[in-house]
Amino acid sequence: MTSETLETRSQTLHGRGMNNAYALPIDEVEQERLDTQHGMWKRFFGGSGLYPTEANELILRLLKPLNTAQNPSVLDVGSGSGIWSIQMAELFPRASVLGLDLTESKPKYIPANCRFITKDIRSGLGEYKEKFDVIHARCVIGHITDIVEFIKKMCDCLKPSGVIFVSDGNPNVYDADHKEFEPASLDLETDNTNKSWMSLFMSKFLKVMETRVGPREYVGRNLDDLILNEPRLQAVGRKTFFDLLNCPEGNTDLSKSSGLAFAKTVKPAVLGAGIDSETVEKILHNISLEVTGPMKTFSRWDFIWALKQG
Ligand SMILES: C[S@@+](CC[C@H](N)C(=O)[O-])C[C@H]1O[C@@H](n2cnc3c(N)ncnc32)[C@H](O)[C@@H]1O
Repeated sequence: MTSETLETRSQTLHGRGMNNAYALPIDEVEQERLDTQHGMWKRFFGGSGLYPTEANELILRLLKPLNTAQNPSVLDVGSGSGIWSIQMAELFPRASVLGLDLTESKPKYIPANCRFITKDIRSGLGEYKEKFDVIHARCVIGHITDIVEFIKKMCDCLKPSGVIFVSDGNPNVYDADHKEFEPASLDLETDNTNKSWMSLFMSKFLKVMETRVGPREYVGRNLDDLILNEPRLQAVGRKTFFDLLNCPEGNTDLSKSSGLAFAKTVKPAVLGAGIDSETVEKILHNISLEVTGPMKTFSRWDFIWALKQG
């Protein structure tokens, strides 16, 4: 592994391993949460679980080309725990897979055709011009200030006719009919029936992120606008998924709630933005009640894939 990164020294903040360059923890607990979240994407996609089945033909053409002299390659930007890179490398043994992240990846097992580098994408990717057949950036754009430039940089690294996968979660909270919940209120006079504490916490987190990285205009919409800003890309498919934030039906084991796991992950950022710990603990307590209660709440996840015109 190589290290070209600045400002990423790990320090303990609000009980979690953090660095200054990124809003969420970078510790083992977070890597395990990301692995669990990877399981969510696998449920969404079916098939290989690594991308939508609708993209399968395209991916097979790129990563299992009939011409065996070709060396297909894949870039996973913001690879996190490395789980997607590793599973792609296992699925496509002829492809070379590169996982790139601000924070050093330390997977226990790395296939021979997979490697990881520690790098801040903001410092540029000039060395990878037209190098990759497939580029994947999952849950990264939310942390990037200039998303148009980010997409452009990734597009520069794509071979002509290559494909890019971009996806992200959405901080709004939805009901079973996919309508947004109103956030609960801390005002003691307010009736919070049918309002969501998770939604309140996510709105606070969104404000923290907007202060850190700028407006998040794409929130609540699909990701087409982001892709269409890049004239070399042509969007070919999009999917929207909803995932239960509660504990599974009849189960009150709080560790089974993806909502509470995410709330805990954003807690240090919310505290770090100066929101007092009494308020944060009160909201988290109410989220614990919400995710074990009868009101079903869902997160929304958007996924888009686009072709670089060849
Ligand atoms: C929410 S995690 C998603 C990880 C992984 N893509 C997944 O879906 O499991 C976002 C990742 O993006 C990385 N990241 C954020 N900003 C970055 C940057 N400027 N350059 C490289 N990686 C970055 C973070 O370190 C983190 O590992």
